[in-house]
Amino acid sequence: MHLLLINGPNLNLLGQRETSIYGSNTLASIEGELQREADEEGVQLDCFQSNFEGALVDRIHQAIGKVDAILINAGAYTHTSVALRDALLGAGIPYVELHLSNTFAREQFRHNSFLADRAVGIVSGFGVMSYHLAFQGLLAHLRQSK
Ligand code: DQA
Repeated sequence: MHLLLINGPNLNLLGQRETSIYGSNTLASIEGELQREADEEGVQLDCFQSNFEGALVDRIHQAIGKVDAILINAGAYTHTSVALRDALLGAGIPYVELHLSNTFAREQFRHNSFLADRAVGIVSGFGVMSYHLAFQGLLAHLRQSK
């Protein structure tokens, strides 16, 4: 099993960015934790972060035929990007949308997601745990459908 974790804009600032909302863990520590969990599960996990929409689209394209599924925290692009939606659907790779914060408990503009309706599932609001829950949920889904 080969999974790809994608983090979008501003998530490189985790640990220093609005810590009352996003917590004090850095992206490197979150990726490290998930990498350990993936190792324990015998899963290959690649991690990618970019602040650029086109770079995220390119990374999704590169995953075609190589990756079984994607975990994505698209950050603000969740709420704005038709291009990311098209890339995920065009790649035909199943994905889980995840967020540290509960986007539905925040500003109205965060309630819309261009990714949610075609996702395997969504995890939102559990802080760092969102990454683990999304990983375990996706894994169970993939193992079930094999
Ligand atoms: C986020 C929620 C988004 O609304 C926001 O733009 C982010 C982070 C989250 O993980 O809670 O950058 O995706």
